[in-house]
Amino acid sequence: MTEPSAADSDLATVAPATLVVAAGRPPRSPGAPVNVPIELSSTYAALPEPSAGYGRGQNATWSAFESTLGALEGGDTLVFASGMAAISAALHLAPEGRAILAPCTPYNTTGACLDELAAAGRRVIRVPIDDTAAVLEALAGTAELADRGGRLDPSDSVDMVGLLWLESPTNPLMEVADLPVLIDAARELGAIVVCDNTFATPLLQQPLALGADVVVHSVTKYLAGHSDVLLGATVTRGDEAGRALHERLLTHRTRHGAIAGPFEVFLALRGIRTLHVRFERACANAAVLARRLATHPAVTRVRYPGSGAMLAIEIVGDGAAAERVAASCGVWLGATSLGGVESLIERRRRYPGESELVPEALLRLSVGIEDVDDLWQDLDRALGVGFRTGH
Ligand SMILES: Cc1ncc(COP(=O)(O)O)c(C=O)c1O
Repeated sequence: MTEPSAADSDLATVAPATLVVAAGRPPRSPGAPVNVPIELSSTYAALPEPSAGYGRGQNATWSAFESTLGALEGGDTLVFASGMAAISAALHLAPEGRAILAPCTPYNTTGACLDELAAAGRRVIRVPIDDTAAVLEALAGTAELADRGGRLDPSDSVDMVGLLWLESPTNPLMEVADLPVLIDAARELGAIVVCDNTFATPLLQQPLALGADVVVHSVTKYLAGHSDVLLGATVTRGDEAGRALHERLLTHRTRHGAIAGPFEVFLALRGIRTLHVRFERACANAAVLARRLATHPAVTRVRYPGSGAMLAIEIVGDGAAAERVAASCGVWLGATSLGGVESLIERRRRYPGESELVPEALLRLSVGIEDVDDLWQDLDRALGVGFRTGH
């Protein structure tokens, strides 16, 4: 007999630290496992009513992860093969004939997808996402908005924004968007709002509660948290409009086959169980490092939004000096990606695909959960190497 407890429906009022541990568990019955099994099945015995019991559309391990992240973000989740698979699916939601408004410097592969859409004839407008006035102006087409007392008729203009893409903070410039204001303004226009919540995680911000339509994640990062899987996710609101978007994203995932392996999703579910403690520690470390870096003689600018575990620093000297700093670290690993337990350091402009708006001597730091003084001493020493050899 199933015990009535800790079903996901009973978790509506618990705190995130409890949710990450308790959501997405098998029903409590005598002898039941505490963890959902890794369901390895490409097909399922037919049900009486016709329905596609096929592994491209369903998997119990996916469902457990999806209900856990859904509970955290406050919506319905779909897990995808990678963050980019989720992002591609979300970009497909952009209404025909209307513009996409997006940050000048989102994650660079998201930027590449937007460039691809623009090359294929979509109108894509790029704005500095931390400049709220500029975004509002671009959103509305200020003159037209004023003429109509704040409202546009969707049939009026092919340039009207149909999808607002938000990423906050952005990777790697750490720009913060004014989510409540921008989401409200976009919804006034009937635009779909998508927010990449990878850097903040649902522990710091929940865009759906602010009215966003879709949250996307690179689950690869904080949610899975151990640099051992690539995965992505979309999350949509539980209301009627949200459910319609969820259905479209599900159809996209199934048709395009952007599906995750059950083993990877099991690892992500195991990882998300410790999200709260990992992130708390990483954020505390980042706050200490940001404060110390602010007065370091080799550092000209610290980009730290005041929360989260990502930082970017600009250093005295050129790209080569920044490369030397990354290469001189011993505790920090010179590597791409972010959000794992280990601290990573990387000069973003080493990649040809990175935006020219990103300074040559910018180092992105993904702060991990190690001892903060070990992290500081290592970085301080490496900054000294870059500084001395550069001058
Ligand atoms: C903010 C952000 N969104 C999306 C992605 C893409 O995710 P994935 O690498 O899982 O495809 C990344 C990857 O670095 C990212 O930093």
